[in-house]
Amino acid sequence: MQDLNQLKAEILDAAAAAASVEALESVRVDALGKKGKVTSLMKGLGQLDAEERKTAGQRLNALKDEIAGAIEARKAELADAEIDARLLHERVDVTLPPRPEAEGRIHPISQTIDEVVQIFGEMGFAVAEGPDIEDDFHNFTALNMPPEHPARQMHDTFYLPEKADGERMLLRTHTSPVQIRAMQVQEPPIRILVPGRTYRCDSDMTHTPMFHQFEGLVIDETTHMGHLKGCLIEFCRAYFEVDDVPARFRPSHFPFTEPSAEMDIGCSREGGELRIGAGDDWLEILGCGMVHPNVLEACGVDSNKYQGFAFGMGVERVAMLKYGIPDLRTFFDADIRWLHHYGFVPLDLPALVSGLSR
Ligand code: DAH
Repeated sequence: MQDLNQLKAEILDAAAAAASVEALESVRVDALGKKGKVTSLMKGLGQLDAEERKTAGQRLNALKDEIAGAIEARKAELADAEIDARLLHERVDVTLPPRPEAEGRIHPISQTIDEVVQIFGEMGFAVAEGPDIEDDFHNFTALNMPPEHPARQMHDTFYLPEKADGERMLLRTHTSPVQIRAMQVQEPPIRILVPGRTYRCDSDMTHTPMFHQFEGLVIDETTHMGHLKGCLIEFCRAYFEVDDVPARFRPSHFPFTEPSAEMDIGCSREGGELRIGAGDDWLEILGCGMVHPNVLEACGVDSNKYQGFAFGMGVERVAMLKYGIPDLRTFFDADIRWLHHYGFVPLDLPALVSGLSR
C-alpha cells in the first residue's frame, strides 16, 4: 500500500489550492469518487488478511473522513469568497442622483395624504385605519345616529346584500367609524388621524361615489374647544403654506359632536383665481366639534372623565384648493396626461422642514 501520509498530503494540498467549486469537485472525485484513489485503496482491502485489513481499514476510513471534512471546509470558504466578490462587484452607489423624471408620478390624493399625515404627525397624531366595509353600529349607531335618525338619509349609503342573520353590511360613508374602533380598543389619551376611502351613492360635478376623507380624534381628560381651534388653524397654515390664514368657526350640527362647528378659512377670488389667505371671502374647509358624550359611552369610555374633539374633511377638496385642480371627477379618470400635469415627482417626500410640496 502506498504511503498514506503522502497521499493525504497531496489531496489536502490539492483541495486547499482549488480556486473554484468546480476545481474542488474534481479533487473530490479524484480522491473519493467511484474510481478515486482512496476508493480504490478501500477496494483493495479485501485482499489483505484479517488482521491487516482491520488496521488498514481504520486508517483508510479516518483518511476518508479527514479528506471529506477538508473538502467541505474549503467549499464553505469558496462560497464565502464568492459572496464577498459579488458584494464588492454589485455595490450600489447611493450617492448617484435619482432620475425620477423618467418614471411615473405620485397621484395628488397620495401626495395630499402624505402632507397631512406629516403635519399631524408633528403634532403627535398616530395614523389609524379601519375597514372599508363597515357594520351599521360603527358607521351610524355608535356615532349617535340610531336607526331612523334623519342624518342617516344624508349619507346615500351603499348597502351589501343581506346576510343570513339579517345584518346588512355597508361601504363606510365617512371615516368617523374609525373613531369608534379606536376608542373601543385604546385607553385614552388617544390622538389619531385616519386617512381613508369613503363611499356614497352620489355622482355629479362635485361628488364621486368613492372619495377620501381624513378624520381626526383627540381624547383625554382636559382637551377643550380652544385646543381644537389651535390645532386646526395650525394645520391650515402648514398645509396651505400661508402664514396669515384667517379662520372662523361657524356653529353647525353633527350628531356625533356637541358643540359642532364648520371651519372656514379666508380667501380671495380676484380675477376668478382662488387664493388662500387674508382676503374678502370665506371658504368652508372642514367639520369638527367636541365628541358627544353618547359617542364616548357607546365605546365604553367614561364621559365624566374623558372628553376631546374630532374633525373630518375631504381629501379631494383640500387637494383641489391647494393645487388649483378644478374638476373633482378628473381625479379618477386615470388620464396619464392629467397625472403628468398634476402629479408629483417620486422621492420628493413631503416634510415640514424642506417644504411640503415643490
Ligand atoms: N363625518 C362627517 C362627514 O362625513 C365629517 C365630520 C364632521 C367628521 C365633524 C367629524 C366631525 O369627526 O367632528 O360629513
